Amino acid sequence: MEQELQRLQDEARQELNALTEIAQLEDFRIRFLGRKGSFGTIMRSLGSATPEDRPRLGQLANTVKAEIERLFEEKQSALSAGAAAAKADRDRVDLTLPGRQPTIGKLHPVTQIMNEVCAIFEGLGFSVAEGPDVEHDHYNFEALNIPAHHPARDMHDTFYVSESILLRTHTSPMQARIMEAQQPPLRVIAPGKVYRCDSDITHTPMFHQVEGFLVDKKVSFADLKGVLTVFTQKMFDKDLALRFRPSFFPFTEPSAEVDIACVFCGGKGCRVCKRTGWIEILGSGMIDPEVFKMVGYDPDIYSGFAFGVGIERMAMLKYGINDIRLYYENDLRFLSQF
Ligand code: FA5
Ligand code: MG
Repeated sequence: MEQELQRLQDEARQELNALTEIAQLEDFRIRFLGRKGSFGTIMRSLGSATPEDRPRLGQLANTVKAEIERLFEEKQSALSAGAAAAKADRDRVDLTLPGRQPTIGKLHPVTQIMNEVCAIFEGLGFSVAEGPDVEHDHYNFEALNIPAHHPARDMHDTFYVSESILLRTHTSPMQARIMEAQQPPLRVIAPGKVYRCDSDITHTPMFHQVEGFLVDKKVSFADLKGVLTVFTQKMFDKDLALRFRPSFFPFTEPSAEVDIACVFCGGKGCRVCKRTGWIEILGSGMIDPEVFKMVGYDPDIYSGFAFGVGIERMAMLKYGINDIRLYYENDLRFLSQF
């Protein structure tokens, strides 16, 4: 039995030395130290030893068992330390790797152009005013010399909220609002959203305008032409062909629409400019004396000009975008290019 115990201890040491995985430990424990394991089998034969030998053999058995247990624990802690080290190695953070870039938002191209237009006019001494999108019929039409049933109302496909409340169809109501509240001289721009029941490659139901107007003594059409020419040159950074086309607005007299040479075809005529070679960017004119009378200005003393720029159009020309509807589809592949 002494030999068997010695052999068991050697065997256990060898096996433990050969072990490489924590998972193998349990199998070892069962085979050597378990109730039905090798050690248990040897212990059961202790009963057949002579009474004189029994205490010595029992003591030896305890020593061997303690030794195997010690070896087992030693291996166990060695293996788990190794496993922890391996895991730490796998999970190690490489501080030299570049960080993840957060995607930073940008201003919408329409907002960018809007800011640019405002900055140019602010540079020319205009101040900025803002007004409501939901507007009274009075400011949108009546005060601009467009009474009920006037045929000019047909030019604006209006969204009505109620009989007398509507979504403003242009930024011109700001002319009446500001003139009503302030005395000349005035140099104001009013940027904002406007709404019309209209949709094709150059029209969207919601779009942006910047209204501009100047009221003082002795303001002439030449001043209007000068201001708008400076504006388009600054906006497009070059001498773009510009044309003043006679037009009609009930609140200006005379009126002109301003076109610039189509940037898509260079003026030859294409789908975007509807084969004309020109794209309309704004409406303008000398403020009608009727409008002055309604806000209490004396048209014999004061004169002035006004204009309304379409911002989406402007952005289309500046960036070469051939379909206005792209602005509002919110496709990031489109929006992130600006
Ligand atoms: C007006 O809205 C006038 N209030 C402009 C004005 C102001 C005239 C002051 C005189 C004095 P009009 O309807 O033409 O005019 O529109 C002005 C500009 O808005 C157009 O030149 C065009 O660039 C843009 N625009 C008009 N409708 C749309 C639309 N549905 N989608 C995008 N842009 C549009
Ligand atoms: Mg027009």
